[in-house]
Amino acid sequence: MSDKLWGGRFTGKAAEWVDEFGASIGFDYRLAAEDIEGSLAHVKMLGQQGIISQAEADQITAGLHAIEKDLAVGKVEFSVANEDIHLNIELLLTKKIGPVAGKLHTGRSRNDQVATDFHLWVKHRLPAVQDAITELQQTLLDLAKKNAEVIMPGYTHMQHAQPISYGHYLLAYFEMFQRDFERFEFNKQHTDNLPLGAAALAGTTFPINRQTVADELGFASIYHNSLDAVSDRDFALEFLSNASILMVHLSRMAEELILWGTYEFNYIELSDNFSTGSSIMPQKKNADFAELVRGKTGHVFGSLMGLLTVMKGLPLAYNKDMQEDKAATFEVMDTILASVKVFTGMLSTMTVHADRMEAATKDDFSNATELADYLAAKGVPFRQAHAIVGELVLKGIQEGKTLNQMPLAELQAADSHIEADVYAELESKTAVNRRTSLGGTAVVNVLKEVDRGQQILADRS
Ligand code: ARG
Repeated sequence: MSDKLWGGRFTGKAAEWVDEFGASIGFDYRLAAEDIEGSLAHVKMLGQQGIISQAEADQITAGLHAIEKDLAVGKVEFSVANEDIHLNIELLLTKKIGPVAGKLHTGRSRNDQVATDFHLWVKHRLPAVQDAITELQQTLLDLAKKNAEVIMPGYTHMQHAQPISYGHYLLAYFEMFQRDFERFEFNKQHTDNLPLGAAALAGTTFPINRQTVADELGFASIYHNSLDAVSDRDFALEFLSNASILMVHLSRMAEELILWGTYEFNYIELSDNFSTGSSIMPQKKNADFAELVRGKTGHVFGSLMGLLTVMKGLPLAYNKDMQEDKAATFEVMDTILASVKVFTGMLSTMTVHADRMEAATKDDFSNATELADYLAAKGVPFRQAHAIVGELVLKGIQEGKTLNQMPLAELQAADSHIEADVYAELESKTAVNRRTSLGGTAVVNVLKEVDRGQQILADRS
């Protein structure tokens, strides 16, 4: 017999390096608290149901609490020979209380045990993700309110398109993070489902009570199919997918922060606390943290593709492949929590160069649509108005002047409908404030949307 916990039918003994290949303790030690939490609930139920005696349940409970204490003071050493967190803790328990520890695993398998631990781990951390998102959203609302009247060029194809409020731009990200928040909310529901009691794959002959375990662990629901319970990793896939979409949003904004902090744009300047210098070029102030968020998006996407690929060919029920689900999920959790936090810090400490943003809307043709709309409002068919303004823009480019800089006579030569009131309409501020359609960029809208956002966050708490 081998010295493994499952060694009864084994005569051979694997080499250490083979054990190492199979072991997950190198990363699943992070499930230690959840593993003990799950075991405490399970053993309580075993005692209550009379599956083991109350005295035995008490002994096991005390042993688990003692391990909890050891863990808290860093007194515990895990070993690769014991494969994973579940076997490591069971062996620690055996060392503490003797063979009665072996009764803990009654009516349970590592398959439903690991699924339970993993559900608990994600379930415990999703609220922190949502809190971080809320803080970021609050920062965006504050910034949007402060900068509602700051006018900047809005871009399509990275070309000046139409002027917008910088506050409006910021609120676009508020909306994205709102959807992220909602996705994690939904993710919570699928995570809040108890697998324990499915045992290896088919359920158990012991008279267990899954409801009391669910209540004890705070699970809202229970898996109703034992095969599904041990083999479902949808909650982790959803988490990785939600994390990926969240990172898309952060990465897009990171790109803009980096670009807008360049000498050429100079729309914003990140604070010293969220920038780094160069070891050779004394003048440099680099947006390293924004770049890192953009860069870390790669491994988050990779983790999602990784787990999708792990799962795609797996027959029911448990397969060891699924051990590959955890390391990536742990890492992605760390990454998104840190990335959102870094973003909140970067945004709340940066300087906004409103003058530079506004100036960029003064020497350009981002008011060309205004002139076309002006003509259309006077009865010129829009297509024709578009062509007239297009020709004026071409003339302006050739002669080095903007539409506002053209004398009235020159504008009137292009179309006789144009009158002196056109200049006010060509102002970028006017262009912004006339866009009062729902969801449009007018400052009044922006301020209204800030209030709506504030209400959303207030309802959350
Ligand atoms: N370390 C394993 C994992 O993470 C635990 C479950 C092992 N179950 C088994 N039947 N080998 O998936």
